[in-house]
Amino acid sequence: MLRSAAWFGDSEDPTGGRLRAFSHRSRMRQLGYLPEEHLGKPVIAILNTWSDINPCHMHLRERAEQVKRGVWQAGGFPLEFPVSTLSETFQKPTPMLYRNLLAMETEELLRSYPVDGAVLMGGCDKTVPALLMGAASAGLPALVVPSGPMLRGNYRGRALGSGTDLWAYWDEYRAGRIGECELSQVECGLARSPGHCMTMGTASTMTAAAEALGMALPGSSSIPAVDSGHHRMASASGARAVELVRERLTPDRIMTREAFEDAAATVLALGGSTNALIHLVAMAGRLGVPFSLEDFDEIGRRVPVLADVRPVGAALMEDFHYAGGLPALLRQLAEVPGALHPDRTTVTGAPFSSYYAAAETHDPQVIRTPQDPVSSEGGVAVLHGNLAPGGAVIKHLAAAPELLTHTGPAVVFDSYQELQRTIDDPALGITEDSVLVLRGAGPLGGPGMPEYGMLPIPAHLLERGVKDLVRISDARMSGTSYGTCVLHVAPESHAGGPLALVRTGDPVTLDVPARLLQLEVAAEELERRRAAWQPPEPRFERGYGALYSEHITQADQGCDFDFLARQGNNPAPDPS
Ligand code: FES
Ligand code: MG
Repeated sequence: MLRSAAWFGDSEDPTGGRLRAFSHRSRMRQLGYLPEEHLGKPVIAILNTWSDINPCHMHLRERAEQVKRGVWQAGGFPLEFPVSTLSETFQKPTPMLYRNLLAMETEELLRSYPVDGAVLMGGCDKTVPALLMGAASAGLPALVVPSGPMLRGNYRGRALGSGTDLWAYWDEYRAGRIGECELSQVECGLARSPGHCMTMGTASTMTAAAEALGMALPGSSSIPAVDSGHHRMASASGARAVELVRERLTPDRIMTREAFEDAAATVLALGGSTNALIHLVAMAGRLGVPFSLEDFDEIGRRVPVLADVRPVGAALMEDFHYAGGLPALLRQLAEVPGALHPDRTTVTGAPFSSYYAAAETHDPQVIRTPQDPVSSEGGVAVLHGNLAPGGAVIKHLAAAPELLTHTGPAVVFDSYQELQRTIDDPALGITEDSVLVLRGAGPLGGPGMPEYGMLPIPAHLLERGVKDLVRISDARMSGTSYGTCVLHVAPESHAGGPLALVRTGDPVTLDVPARLLQLEVAAEELERRRAAWQPPEPRFERGYGALYSEHITQADQGCDFDFLARQGNNPAPDPS
């Protein structure tokens, strides 16, 4: 029997003699539906993160209609639920503060309404992880409709990339090399269609991860948002959601340990965003699947980078799609022994190998072979040491090779505001040997772990041609950023992690080959400093921020809420 029949009864057993079912059915008539349009049919909730304020999802209001078309076609009954949008551009201090709120909303909507399965519509950075975390906890059959990347940017015939070219042209303007007129052309050309960022930022990384987990249809994640293929994919996803319900194919059967290993390998082969390390750990946690930062490090040592997409490479997501998209990349990745698990289950009901077995590469420059990779190792390493007992992350592929083994004196900033105010001051004495340290930017301290991790280089060093420094923080970094930036230091300084004890002048060692991050200060001295350390004032006294602060876990645990991450009884409602 369908879960929704507990609300409505079914066509054979009109009300089952229940007053509530009679009441629910009368309200369905009020909504304008005939009994035969919905009774006995799988109810598919379409969770839509469309909003007027989210340019990455501006097409999803209309695209939900194509999902509905597919649901009807397959004999289901679609109901659209607007859910909280998380717009990376507009929501402050960062949508990361609200990822768990959307995850809670997703779980509770699916739990409390007459729903049999779900289609999850999202793309902009935090939306896909939030929707998948909630759907995993709700336990109903579900799949993702990725919002798709926007078209390439365009400025006088030049292809512009999200993030990277924003900074580049702003610097051109500040340097007086372009004027107001050119700047306004760039403003109109940087983001010129619906869809998420078209570099390999967090959105492209996490939608690809959803596909690699087997939680989205094959080839779905790279289809440009405005391509007619995106309409067809939406319809096919709606139809498939109905079948998922009939087959009782729930997320826990798809998002297994093997699926997370494959998603991590895919993210690393894409040269994807470091944010994926937080999100995949959080998603696995919802299912009780053991999956940690160490797994990423281990997988990264054997998986090459195969996608030549910015910021690591040259192409954009539109080029990646025309080159064959994720299926073509997965086919190459599958050539690496042990990189993928071909036999595990996916939302199609077919094994994962069916996602890529017949795929072809149409542009070998954009999607490389393991014999001719962009880099022979995955781009991300996980560090440990007395400065990061819970771990830290570096995208070393995007770092200056000579800095990957470095010891230098720390220059400490207690907040991002202080850093912005003082970074260019020559009196700080920052040299190319210095190690910049930013604290107070973690999950609690930020709050929400803002993307401050690419600390700026002081102007006087830039003028001398210094392009990179070792930088360490408890913040995150945008998927489109680069440099020798050690991120996600756990525990964070605000929670009393060792980062709180660093003083300007202390020697700090970064040794990426040894996976080490060490503060070269005697243990007794650190003990003395710890004893004198005063925890900072709580950021919030009321509101969602207070709930967040009480329950957020550290970066190595995925920044989920402790009460959402744990397994345990959460009784289903009784609609009768
Ligand atoms: Fe939405 Fe970049 S702003 S994906
Ligand atoms: Mg981003």
